[in-house]
Amino acid sequence: MEAEIRPASFATELHAAPQGIASPQSWQSAGPLRVISVTSGKGGVGKSNVVVNLGLALAQRGLNVLLIDADLGLGNLDILLGLTPQFTLQDALASQLKLAEVIVDGPGGLKILPASSGIADLAILDEFQKLFLLNEMDHYTEDVDVVLIDTGAGISPNVLFFNIGAQERILVVNNQPPAIADAYALIKILASQYGETSFKLLVNGLAHHREAELVYRTLLRVAERFLSQEISLDYLGFVPYDPALPKAVMRQQPVLALYPQSPASKSFVMIAQNLWENKPQPGIDGNIKFFWRRLL
Ligand SMILES: Nc1ncnc2c1ncn2[C@@H]1O[C@H](COP(=O)(O)OP(=O)(O)OP(=O)(O)O)[C@@H](O)[C@H]1O
Ligand SMILES: [Mg+2]
Repeated sequence: MEAEIRPASFATELHAAPQGIASPQSWQSAGPLRVISVTSGKGGVGKSNVVVNLGLALAQRGLNVLLIDADLGLGNLDILLGLTPQFTLQDALASQLKLAEVIVDGPGGLKILPASSGIADLAILDEFQKLFLLNEMDHYTEDVDVVLIDTGAGISPNVLFFNIGAQERILVVNNQPPAIADAYALIKILASQYGETSFKLLVNGLAHHREAELVYRTLLRVAERFLSQEISLDYLGFVPYDPALPKAVMRQQPVLALYPQSPASKSFVMIAQNLWENKPQPGIDGNIKFFWRRLL
């Protein structure tokens, strides 16, 4: 059967270049919790920076945002934000700490659940750890509007676990053939083995939106040609290559906080707006219990 690919459906679409910024009013949380994974097949394409800056853009509009560092073993959201947390997700799992004891405050009202780096033990979460985490999430997220999960890269069991648990998946990719091939591999495994067929594509680090558009169309074409499932691949937006971003990384601050007028920052604001305006279909229960029912 031929795959049916839904073309980009968002208003700003392929030309979501960094010109134009969202209007400054705050966004009321009018709906259920949204749990969104930020993922990639290949490493180093910009996931963690997307999580931090998209999270900040949403928080700047008055939303309560929780960032989860689920890159277990190589977590670095805390480093990107210049934080020195006392505990991490791994400590919570090892000592059954309440998430409220582990979650720290970040810039702009962000809440962050940090992960340790260099600990291989949790490369694969066991069933008890998954249950503990989901139960704690259930308690913690009562006042949260959006959860953004940095899944880490690849197709490991943990990456798949968080992608399956999330209601929405943002797939980050650049124009490097290995990154596109690995993005396709991740789509394929999530669709064919877990029935997860909807993705939002964020193209990062290119010079021009036309290159981003080409990446989107390439991925669409490949999925259309080779996947038997019906895939929904929406174009969420494009973040240009911007030297301000590595500068901000060096200073351990989000580029949106340090250089709000930079092209990357303006793109993050637009993408946040696009994301917020394009909520999932009604009927999807955003309660975190749903997140866990999906997983169990
Ligand atoms: N839009 C951009 N413009 C310029 N440089 C960028 C951009 N996005 C990312 N980078 C560079 O790429 C580096 C890696 O980004 P990041 O850590 O967010 O990727 P990642 O996908 O989380 O990596 P990993 O898979 O290793 O966790 C950044 O430190 C930055 O130097
Ligand atoms: Mg990362």
